[in-house]
Amino acid sequence: MKLSGKHIVIGITGGIAAYKSANLVRLFVKSGAEVQVIMTPHAKEFITPVTLSTLSGKPVISEFFTANTGEWHSHVDLGLWADAFIVAPATASTIAKMATGVADNMLVTSYLSTRAKVFVAPAMDMDMMMHPSTVRNIETLRSDGCTIIEPAEGELASHLIGKGRMEEPDAIFRRVATFLIENEKYNLNPEINGCDGKAAAQLKNKRVLITAGPTRERLDPVRFISNYSTGKMGVAIADEAARRGADVTLVLGPCNASPTESGVMVVNVESARDMLDVCERYFPSTDIAIMCAAVADYTVAHPSEVKIKRENNEIPSFEFVKNPDIAAILGKRKRDNQYMVGFALETDHENVNAIEKLNRKNLNMIVMNSLRDEGAGFGTDTNKVTIHTSDGRSKEFGLKDKKAVASDIWDSILENTNG
Ligand code: PMT
Repeated sequence: MKLSGKHIVIGITGGIAAYKSANLVRLFVKSGAEVQVIMTPHAKEFITPVTLSTLSGKPVISEFFTANTGEWHSHVDLGLWADAFIVAPATASTIAKMATGVADNMLVTSYLSTRAKVFVAPAMDMDMMMHPSTVRNIETLRSDGCTIIEPAEGELASHLIGKGRMEEPDAIFRRVATFLIENEKYNLNPEINGCDGKAAAQLKNKRVLITAGPTRERLDPVRFISNYSTGKMGVAIADEAARRGADVTLVLGPCNASPTESGVMVVNVESARDMLDVCERYFPSTDIAIMCAAVADYTVAHPSEVKIKRENNEIPSFEFVKNPDIAAILGKRKRDNQYMVGFALETDHENVNAIEKLNRKNLNMIVMNSLRDEGAGFGTDTNKVTIHTSDGRSKEFGLKDKKAVASDIWDSILENTNG
């Protein structure tokens, strides 16, 4: 994820997790962002300002004045400079000060002056975390518009096991970077897309929406129904689109595959319903949509709120209801200047079924893959596809690596959209 030109304030407070913030600073600097670290006086007991100024390439700010020069640090300028304002780790004490506006240090004063989006990553002992005053203060920050990056469960500095470990720096980085990139999308910045060269020109200024991976439909808090999709095919299509210069949003169901190109923004989802919600948000500003996800056709009408116990002698039964057909819903709303591609995963009467889906879902193109072809479909690194278009043309391709299949699909889309 490239964040060239972005200004990030990272506020570090006095908790043991302060050492992790060194890595957070490094991740933002590596992404091309400018980072200004503000430390509370107590934070310096956990990590030295020298470490953070070396990593950020800027002197760390902690006091209102530099002692030897008398230089005043303007919290207002700093607050306005920031595109994102992160407090990580955020102790119970700093959270309380932020929630109540106690501006007795440079960090809280800058927080009160900023207009940037604020992300707060709490880190503390589990009992402090659960204390009603902390819960209340966090709720206040939430309602003030801060995004709370929930702490994880695990062994804490007290050696107790519970919720209170600061989220890992790479996860915090992804949350903030995704927010900044998503915000930028409506005011496209080519540096953020990070693509150049000849291939990049092919999809320059095109907004591409891709669904990939499986969806999960909950039976109870620990069980779900899903399918064998690994996300490999959709991720390869997303990477290829970014290499060709597109601004790509990848709506990805739960899987291990992830894009390698920095121009791909990933929105992780779980169920078909979640996937539809995200697609509906992005589709109006999309030029080309590719529906590669293996969406569960059915979901459970009333998933259990609690784990269904094996000890209950009764065999559970579930009522299934149809999931929304995302491709069909978007197909209905498709404007003339939008191009939509679906996939068809078939086991019999492959091409007939695929063409029927192409027409029924109002798509411009459908990519058929059959489970009868060895090395095609789910899980494999390869695929074998036949591409059908709404003007009645079809083209069959041989068995290839999914990256090469992605390239064939984009070549076909470009042929069809460029007349
Ligand atoms: O992820 P991999 O392991 O790499 O595997 C790739 C793949 C096999 C998942 C992929 O190549 C593929 O075929 N994806 C579509 C699978 C599928 O659900 O096909 P379908 O024939 O059931 O659906 C037809 C189309 O409607 C698809 O574009 C699908 O995304 C879409 N759909 C289906 C159901 C639903 N509720 N909403 C949808 O949008």
